[in-house]
Amino acid sequence: MSEGHSTYTPKTGIERWFDARMPLPRLIHDSFVSYPVPRNLNYMWTFGGILSIMLVSQIVTGIVLAMHYTSDSTLAFNSVEKIMRDVNSGWLLRYMHANGASFFFIAVYLHIFRGLFYGSYKAPRELLWILGCIIYLLMMATGFMGYVLPWGQMSFWGATVITGFFSAIPLVGDWIQQLLLGGFAVDNPTLNRFFALHYLLPFMIAGVVVLHIWALHVVGQSNPTGIEVKSKTDTVAFTPYATIKDAFGMIVFLFFFAYFIFFLPNYLGHADNYIVANPLKTPAHIVPEWYFLPFYAILRAITFNIGPINSKLGGVLCMFGAIAMLFLVPWLDTSKVR
Ligand code: HEM
Repeated sequence: MSEGHSTYTPKTGIERWFDARMPLPRLIHDSFVSYPVPRNLNYMWTFGGILSIMLVSQIVTGIVLAMHYTSDSTLAFNSVEKIMRDVNSGWLLRYMHANGASFFFIAVYLHIFRGLFYGSYKAPRELLWILGCIIYLLMMATGFMGYVLPWGQMSFWGATVITGFFSAIPLVGDWIQQLLLGGFAVDNPTLNRFFALHYLLPFMIAGVVVLHIWALHVVGQSNPTGIEVKSKTDTVAFTPYATIKDAFGMIVFLFFFAYFIFFLPNYLGHADNYIVANPLKTPAHIVPEWYFLPFYAILRAITFNIGPINSKLGGVLCMFGAIAMLFLVPWLDTSKVR
C-alpha cells in the first residue's frame, strides 16, 4: 500500500543529508505519520500497538531483573526474594514483569480473536497471520521458561510435566527430553539453559514482529466491514487519527495493568510458587499459568489409547494439533466473503 508512494519531503539540511544516505526518517514518516489506515477501524485494531508496548515493557523490566537474578538452582529462589525485599523498586519490576506476561497474553488473545472474528487472516494477509502464529509460539515458549526461573514448587513441577511431553514422541522422545533438561530430571542445567533461552527468545519475537509489521504495511490493514479499502477517501492518515486512538486504547489497557500490579499482584499467580522447589515433594495440583489452561485441558482430556497411540502421546498430539490448526486457518476458511 505505502510501497513506492512516499510523501516525505526532507525540510532541513540534516534531514536531506540522512535521506540521501540512510532514509530512516522517511521510513518512519511513511510508516507512522502519512501511512493510510481504513477510516472505520474500531478498538479491536488497537491491540497490535498495545502488544508492541507490552513487548518493550517485558524486555526493559526483564533486563533489569536479570541484573539481580541468579540462575543457580541453590540461589535462584532467594535471589528473587532479594529482588522483592532489598533491590530498590525490585518488587515493582518483578510485579510488572510477572503480571506483564499475563497482560501480554490477554492482549494477544484479543488480537487473535479480532483476526478470527473479522477474517483478518484471509488473502492477502496469510503470511502476516502465519508470522503472528510464530510470534504466539515464541511467546508460549518464553512464558513457560520464564515461569521456571523463580525456582518455586510450581516452577519445578511445571517444568517436569511439560518436558515430560517430549518423552511421548516415539523413538527420539527420550533423547529430546534429556537434551532439554541437560540431564535426566529438572535440575541446575535445566535452569541455566531456560534462563539463557528466556533472555534470547524475546529478541527473536522482536525480530518476527518487525517482519509482521513489514508484511502488514505491504498489504495494508483490513477493516470491520471485510471489504478492502478502494479509494483514498476510505482511509485517513495514521497520524493523528490512529495515533490518538491507539494512545487512548493503550492508556485504558495500562490502567487495568496498573490495577493488577498495585492491588492484585499475586492474583494471577499460584501460592505454591512461594515455596522453594522441592524435588522430593510433588504439589497436590500441578497447574500451568491461566494462559496455558486450554491447552492443558486438551492434554488431560485424552485419557484413552487410540489404536497404537497411547493416551500420553494422544494428548500431546491433540494439544500441538490445536496450535497447528491456527496456522491453517487461512486455508480452512474457503468463504469468498467475510
Ligand atoms: C508480540 C505480538 C504481536 C505484535 C506486537 C503485533 C503487532 C501488530 C500490529 C502493530 C498490527 C497492526 C494494528 C492492529 O491491527 O492491531 C497487527 C496486525 C495484525 N496482526 Fe499482529 N501482533 C502480534 C501478534 C499477532 C498474532 C499472535 C497474530 C495471529 C496469530 C497476529 C495477527 C495479525 C493480523 C492478521 C493483523 C492484521 C489485522 C488487520 O489488518 O485486519 N498478530 N499486529
